[in-house]
Amino acid sequence: MNMKLKVGKVNSVTENEIIKISTRDTEICVTKIGSEIHAFEDICSHDGESISEGKLENNCIVCPRHLAKFDLKTGKALCMPATEPIRIFPVKIVGDEIELEMEDF
Ligand code: FES
Repeated sequence: MNMKLKVGKVNSVTENEIIKISTRDTEICVTKIGSEIHAFEDICSHDGESISEGKLENNCIVCPRHLAKFDLKTGKALCMPATEPIRIFPVKIVGDEIELEMEDF
């Protein structure tokens, strides 16, 4: 079963900035690129680095450790050394709130 998680108001996220939210199970990053909000887990699929310290580039995040790049819409790894996707969370805007779709752990 999926669970919804409210993570804040739409206007609390500034474009090209990453905010971090801690849940009981993990750390989630939320960012805004253009008018779109993206949410992803703060764990690089290559070696577990905190990717929230990385650089946003177009619709991607670049891991600060070995510079793997991930698409923020799909989570897909776009270059070596990562081959696996990062975990992303579908975002829904409800009124002025950001809601994430979380699958059960
Ligand atoms: S830990 Fe992220 S690219 Fe290696």
